[in-house]
Amino acid sequence: MSEPLPSLLLVGCGQMGGALLNAWIAHGLEPSVVIDRHREDLSSPHQVVRALTDIPADFHPAAVILAVKPQKARPVLEELARLRPDIVTDAVIVSVMAGLSTSTISAFLKTNAPTARPAVVRAMPNTPSAIGRGATGLFAGNAVTPAQKTLCDRLLSAVGATAWVHPEEQIDIVTAVSGSGPAYVFLLAELLEKTAVSMGLAPDTARLLARKTVSGSGELLERSSEDATELRRRVTSPGGTTAAALAVLDAPDNCPRILREALEANVLRSHELAS
Ligand SMILES: NC(=O)c1ccc[n+]([C@@H]2O[C@H](COP(=O)([O-])OP(=O)(O)OC[C@H]3O[C@@H](n4cnc5c(N)ncnc54)[C@H](OP(=O)(O)O)[C@@H]3O)[C@@H](O)[C@H]2O)c1
Repeated sequence: MSEPLPSLLLVGCGQMGGALLNAWIAHGLEPSVVIDRHREDLSSPHQVVRALTDIPADFHPAAVILAVKPQKARPVLEELARLRPDIVTDAVIVSVMAGLSTSTISAFLKTNAPTARPAVVRAMPNTPSAIGRGATGLFAGNAVTPAQKTLCDRLLSAVGATAWVHPEEQIDIVTAVSGSGPAYVFLLAELLEKTAVSMGLAPDTARLLARKTVSGSGELLERSSEDATELRRRVTSPGGTTAAALAVLDAPDNCPRILREALEANVLRSHELAS
């Protein structure tokens, strides 16, 4: 196994924090501390505590991972800075929260220490990270050192593919494309299944065919050197059944327009969360 990942303080261990944690533990993780009110099943050498006040005084993580909802960030960051200014100074602060900018996160961390220069990285992973097949976009704030950037890349590479973006606004596009993207793919599986049932297939048959079509197509795309357009062409004989369906789906006013509207709504929501 490769070198273990350095110790982490994970704040919030729900869908995303939990997915990342499971993958990091499977990969090998130095003793780490998780703060969450629900998580019970963490075994030694890691420990779970219920609140920031319970972080052991001798615990000095290399990185803090913030995985609470953006609306809950402010009190968490202000309390962390008040209780453990040493962690805020020494560790890289990695936010997976949608919407909140590095300057907003820094401002919350600096409430009690205006001259501090926290090193803040934004990472936007997605839930396939839980099985090592994630896709994460990253952005590094001004105070992040090259070594901290490398550390963040190691962390997120442990759960899938990584791509650094610049300027920071591009993280909102990453959120719309890959952060939220699994939900769109699962929606496709749901709609294929429901539509198949409504057209007459037995529910079990519809479920099996929809699930295997989505997961098998994803795997084919993963393993192929061809791009999605070419793989789609190979299923589409001119004048055939797939062509008839794609003429509906890919008409400019259907999927292309709807997907654009959906991604724009996603970016807009990031802006709202940031304000
Ligand atoms: N889900 C995704 O696919 C995804 C993808 C990329 C990024 N994200 C980002 O990840 C973040 C978390 O999303 P999620 O879907 O994982 O939400 P979630 O399932 O609700 O998880 C958040 C967890 O944080 C806990 N928490 C809240 N306040 C806390 C505090 N003060 N100290 C410690 N833990 C606290 C929550 O507990 P309570 O229930 O008790 O409040 C909950 O267990 C969000 O900012 C989101 O933008 C999510």
